[in-house]
Parts: sequence; structure tokens; C-alpha cells
Amino acid sequence: MPSFKLDGREIPFEKGDTIIRAAHRAGIDVPHYCWHPGLSVAANCRMCLVEIAPPPGQRGLRLDILRLDPATNTYAVANKPKLQPACQVECGEGMNVLSDSSEHVAEARKAVQELLLLNHPVDCPICDQAGECRLQDYWLEHGRYKKRMNDEIVHKPKAVSFGPTIVYDAERCIVCTRCVRFVEEVAKDPVLDKRERGNLGEIMVAPGRQLDNNYTLMTEHVCPVGALTAKDFRFKARVWFLRSARTVCQGCATGCNAYLDYDPRTMTAYRHRPRENMAVNQYWMCDVGMLSYRRAHEARVTHARVDGKLATAGEALDEVKRRLGGSPAGGVALVLSAQHSSEDNYALSRLAREHLGVGRVFVSGLPEGPGDDVLYHPDKNPNTAGAKAHAGPDAPGSFADLLAAIDAGGLKHVLALGAEVPVDDAALASLRKLSTLVTVAAHEGPLVAAAHVVLPATTWAEAAGTYVNAKGLAQKSEAAVRPRGESRPAWEWAGQIAKALSLPFGFAKLGELRRAMAPAEPAAAPAGAAQPGAAP
Ligand code: SF4
Ligand code: SF4
Ligand code: FES
Repeated sequence: MPSFKLDGREIPFEKGDTIIRAAHRAGIDVPHYCWHPGLSVAANCRMCLVEIAPPPGQRGLRLDILRLDPATNTYAVANKPKLQPACQVECGEGMNVLSDSSEHVAEARKAVQELLLLNHPVDCPICDQAGECRLQDYWLEHGRYKKRMNDEIVHKPKAVSFGPTIVYDAERCIVCTRCVRFVEEVAKDPVLDKRERGNLGEIMVAPGRQLDNNYTLMTEHVCPVGALTAKDFRFKARVWFLRSARTVCQGCATGCNAYLDYDPRTMTAYRHRPRENMAVNQYWMCDVGMLSYRRAHEARVTHARVDGKLATAGEALDEVKRRLGGSPAGGVALVLSAQHSSEDNYALSRLAREHLGVGRVFVSGLPEGPGDDVLYHPDKNPNTAGAKAHAGPDAPGSFADLLAAIDAGGLKHVLALGAEVPVDDAALASLRKLSTLVTVAAHEGPLVAAAHVVLPATTWAEAAGTYVNAKGLAQKSEAAVRPRGESRPAWEWAGQIAKALSLPFGFAKLGELRRAMAPAEPAAAPAGAAQPGAAP
């Protein structure tokens, strides 16, 4: 592989790589604002300027300048190496690039910082980007100058609503055009553009339009400063109080890799943001997925219920024993859930098929909906493939098949995972015909409302789990917050049900369960970004 030198370190590169891309791949940050690995190159911020040393014996590009001589307080003609944007210049074999080791680069970075901050309001204390703002970070690393401009700054529009999800502050905007390029190149909806020049430049929404496509929240995510903020998140939390868990989005079958940011002091989830995985979602997520973090706390089932009334776990398990203990072999059906992890589906499936004599298995979940050709999948469940993979040797029936079997009178007892169903409420009258419906679920929903016994399960935010996406890639999701109320992973409930029925089944640890599950599990996905971190 060809390589070049960056501050004396050998960096391999692929044909067509720019200096910044090769450095980024090698884990080296060349300071930048406008460059993003998933967007085209604009090269407008000039923060990434580097010095490219000429080959021995050759004179490199030079730039004539006037330099102030402090002794005489006069300007003298001088010259210095002409710096070049690392985001635009392609790597060449044997190239010698100076970044942190060049005094000319250090001077340029300081000057760029000063220019970008010349008209910037000093509102970091009330800015939502504080703590993850490149202007702040780079000022500390490369600025630290004394403010020289005493004039009133150029004032521009503040708190402009761009649409249902995003607010724009033109005074904070450095006009890097990342948001403009994102909506055009990724969201395929070129609804943003730049107007005016110099210190009057600002971003605007196309006349007659709003920023309202499926990917509006990504504009806030790619904005390197606090110019675009999300209505959902602004003023809710300070990012330095938040911790991140590497999760898998639950919004659809694409299974985008995400960080779930939560406050460990209150165990509250605050936002979802994309985690880079080039095999799945690259750098992006859709709005539905980014807002789906709310499901960590919304409409939760947190305590056991018997016949619609709150009960202790012991009382609920006694009722399960009374109802399922005497069921005839083959008289119980199992409903797996495309909303739950493979671990949950696997444990309940094995309990039901090997110990409860369950013959018929069905898979439920949310109904299909609209998708798009970027990421959003019509299947609104994160684990349809995983649930089906663990249904047993025969292909599972659909939820409609389950209702038909109940209506035909051959099914009286059902053990169900998950509350979600793909049909409207009218069809659920069939569920009322059951003598026994035991539901293990994390959220309220039709299968909880109709249940005789409800056991509270954890959400994806509260328990580690594996989800198999539409491409058949199995992806692991980490737990973030502590389980609410008495909820516990559904795979643990499978063990508790077995104990109540005196059956020899259960897994003491997640690792033990995963080892047992491994042979039936689809291929693992290439890992996403390993460490929680800021956007590129
Ligand atoms: S709003 Fe943000 S992303 Fe868009 S041009 Fe301004 S600074 Fe860049
Ligand atoms: S495309 Fe699907 S998995 Fe990706 S963020 Fe959107 S809802 Fe989540
Ligand atoms: S990152 Fe290279 S010019 Fe902006």
C-alpha cells in the first residue's frame, strides 16, 4: 500500500484518498469544520490547511506576504510556504506533510479561528452545542488569542425555525455548508442553500418549503457548531453529564448503529445519534430512528399484572403456573416478537417448544409502513429475521394466522412475547376468546391489554441484546439505563416461568444464553465504531 508522511509518521493511503481522509482512517485528526467523510469536499473553512514540504532539491509553492517587524513597526516583504487544504489535496507516494509540526500551520489555524469567531456571539453558556462544539475545542487547541476586534459584531437572524425539528442561529453559523451538502447528497432533498457572501453569509430554506424530510435531525448532527439545534433536545441536557451506550436503532429493519445518550444520575435517555458503520448506516440515521430513543421510557410496562390488576412477580408467576401448568401438550401456542432481541425470542422459544409442548409458533410485530431509498425500511421492526430464525424448524405463522387459528376454535392458550401487533384493534376481539394469554412485554399494546397475566420486560435500552437486520446481519446492542420498576429481560422471565412450573430450563448469565443461541444465529455484522465519540 502506498504511504506518505504526516508529521514524520508513515500513513498508508488508498488511491484517490485526500490527506485528511487517510489521516482520519489512521486515527489522526487534522482540524476541520467543513469536511465530513460522508459528504463531498467544499474546502471552504480553511481550518485543515497543512504544509506540504517540497521534495529535496525543489522549491515548493511559496506565498508573498507582508510581515510586521515589531522592532521598527513597519511591514517588510517576506514569503512563506503556501499552505494547502488537507481535505482537498490528494495523497501522493512519499509526500511529506506537516500539520501539527509546522509553525506556519499553527499560525494559519489561529488566524482561521479568529476569523470564524470574529462575529460569533459569546453565547456558549446558553448554547446547546457547548461541550461538543468544534469552535470551542479548536479555540482551546489552536486559538487562545486575545480578542482584537472591539466593534459591534454583525448581527444576523437568531432562533429561526427551519421546520418541525430544527432551529437555526445564523450568528453561530460558520457557513461550512455541511447541512446544505447533506440534504442534497444524502437526503436527496436540496431544501437548504447559502445566500450572501463574507460576514453576511447565512443558510436559508428554499422559499415555500420547510426542512421536513426524513433526515432533518442529521443536519443538526453534521453541523460542527451550535448553528443548528434540534427542537427535541435543545435546553434539555448538558452533554458533559451524558454517557453513551452503543445500541442498535429499534425504528426499522435497517438496524442503524446508534449511540443512546443517557444521564446516569437519573437513568434517563436523552437522544439517539448515529454510530458509524459502513456496512449498515454509514454515518447517518433517519428522524424516526433518532427520536425512537423516547421508547425507552414511553408507554412502559414496569410491573406485573394479573387480570389487568397490578401484582407482584410472585403472584403473576403463580398465575402463570395455574394457567399453563395444566395445559394439554400441544394446547399452547407461542407468539414471538420482531420487536424483541434474539436472546428474548430464543429463550422463550426453547422454553415453549422443548418444555411446554408448544407446537405452533407465530411471529408478531409492528405493521409495515412507508420506507425510502436512503435508510428507512418498510419493516418497522428491528428483529424480524432474528425472531423467525429462533422460531424452530418450521416456518412460523403470521399474526393473522394466529387470529385465524383462535377463531377456528383450536387454540386456547397462548404465551406471547411483546405487545405489538400488525393488525387493527377490531381483529383483536379474537384474542378475547383465549382462555389464557400470558404476555411478556416492555410496552403497552394490544397483547398486553388482552393478557390475563403480564410480566414486565426490559426495553433495548435496559438490556443487552442482538438484533438481525433486513440484510441478515446480527448486531449487538448494549444496555444503557437501569431497568424500570420490576422489568427484567424476557429471557430471564423464561427462566422464571420454567422455575414456577418446576421445569429444568433457564440461563444464569447472558453469556451462557448467547453460547447456546450461537448455532442458530445469523452472521454477525462488521462492528460499528468502537468508542462513543463526537461526529467526524
Ligand atoms: S448551519 Fe451548521 S452545518 Fe450549516 S453551514 Fe452553518 S455551521 Fe455549517
Ligand atoms: S433507518 Fe430505521 S434503523 Fe435507521 S435510524 Fe431510521 S428507523 Fe432507525
Ligand atoms: S476542512 Fe478543509 S477547508 Fe474546511
